Amino acid sequence: MKEREVVIVSNRLPLSIKHDQGVAKARRSSGGLVTALLPILRDKGGVWIGNAGTHEDEHATELLQQEARNEGFACVPIYVTEQEDRNFYEGFSNQVLWPLFHDFIGECRFEPAYWEFYRKVNAKFADAVMSVYRGDQTLWVHDYQLMHVAAALRERGCKGRVAFFLHTPFPSYDVFAKLPWRRDLLLSLLQYDLIGLQTERDTRNLVSCLRRLVPEAVMTSTHTAHHVMFQGRRIVIQDFPISIDFEEFAQAAREPEVEERTRSIIARMGMGQMIFGVDRQDYTKGIPHRLRAYGALLRRRPDLVGRVRLVQIVVPSRQNIPGYEALKARIEHLVASINGEFTQPGWVPIHYIHRSIPREELLALYRAANVALVTPLKDGMNLVAKEFCATRIDDHGVLVLSEFAGAAAEMYRGALLVNPFDLEGVAGALEQALEMPLNQQQERMRKLRRFLKHANVHRWVNEFMQVIEHVNHHGSTRSNH
Ligand code: ADP
Ligand code: F6P
Repeated sequence: MKEREVVIVSNRLPLSIKHDQGVAKARRSSGGLVTALLPILRDKGGVWIGNAGTHEDEHATELLQQEARNEGFACVPIYVTEQEDRNFYEGFSNQVLWPLFHDFIGECRFEPAYWEFYRKVNAKFADAVMSVYRGDQTLWVHDYQLMHVAAALRERGCKGRVAFFLHTPFPSYDVFAKLPWRRDLLLSLLQYDLIGLQTERDTRNLVSCLRRLVPEAVMTSTHTAHHVMFQGRRIVIQDFPISIDFEEFAQAAREPEVEERTRSIIARMGMGQMIFGVDRQDYTKGIPHRLRAYGALLRRRPDLVGRVRLVQIVVPSRQNIPGYEALKARIEHLVASINGEFTQPGWVPIHYIHRSIPREELLALYRAANVALVTPLKDGMNLVAKEFCATRIDDHGVLVLSEFAGAAAEMYRGALLVNPFDLEGVAGALEQALEMPLNQQQERMRKLRRFLKHANVHRWVNEFMQVIEHVNHHGSTRSNH
């Protein structure tokens, strides 16, 4: 039997246009999702549809399509206008769904125009899908920016198999119910055939929202999935925790350049220990809470002054959105205040880096750290936690992990779990991590690495693809046809 081709739809294309000395060039982005999905597109054939990230321009389309061909797949770039970007991306996606799904109701702006543009831009993505759709491909749509694509596809007559994966958390009913378009959004979601979420917590939340807000849907559960009968169709809801390319990280960690940078960082740290954090500049990541917890640690353990450092990288993100801009000022105020309180000649407690760093530097910092401090207030998964462990080819290092990251559900046996809102609790976990004997570190890290080696992103893609292949597609549910 011929394998079905795949159409991947995501807000960003895995390619972007960079200007090198005034010349525009298309480059493939790095990242686990791209690494995992490209082999599927190459093997089965198919197309990746996403935002070009630039103004509409025939030359850009040509560059992107040429680069995609070089990488062994096809792409369809979508161009959104400035007005669409403001209302769809900055508006509904990042000032409604992102804060709502991360329990930050105070950051939500429920503007009716945002919802209107969200559906309009999702319909634009659906038009692009229809331009390549031949009736037999598997369609896989990604993330919160595109929850309405299946509904727009159905309106355009698409009866094919359409799957969705949500990379963020799904909130509890009490939070979700605040959305003015709560039932409409769930009805849009029910146009998918398979809805994948990160964790069991998320599937439970979605199912309870459906029970309350779409009572006419009939729900049953097995030990692996939930099934929803709705308007003569059967929809599967299941958790698929995303992961990383473990082998790629472990191998890259051994590269001579990374080894060299690791040695140089360790040498510069002298006898001291290093705590490491790296996050997008996002209020969900809990950076201010983390800084305050570190300050609390230095206050209660003056003997650590001069002997431990926090290296915190903050990667600029979504800078046009008000909550993100305010966060930068808050972080910088706290860094200045803690550094002002504790710095001594020759020693600074917080090394704060506000920019993106090269990949080799990131890997070297993972390898040189004694402790990785990963304390989001809420996170769909958190790949940094997994990458840190994959690069620890020496089996050393301790992961301090927020219990509100999706990763905690899988990594609780090896990590020290913390409540990121409990500053003294985080300070206590840091103490425990900094003092943990090497044999205990090894025991925990080996457990984590054994798990990740097996639960890698390739397994994630394969499991998801297998389930898509077996779901009933539109118009062919067993009970009705
Ligand atoms: P989120 O998707 O919310 O940003 P994750 O922790 O899941 O959070 O993923 C962050 C990703 O960003 C990781 O894969 C990490 O390697 C990557 N990353 C972090 N810093 C940089 C950087 N300076 N350059 C490129 N990628 C980075
Ligand atoms: O984790 C959610 C996510 O949207 C990722 O898909 C994306 O890589 C990251 O956040 C950065 O967000 P944006 O695409 O808005 O810059």
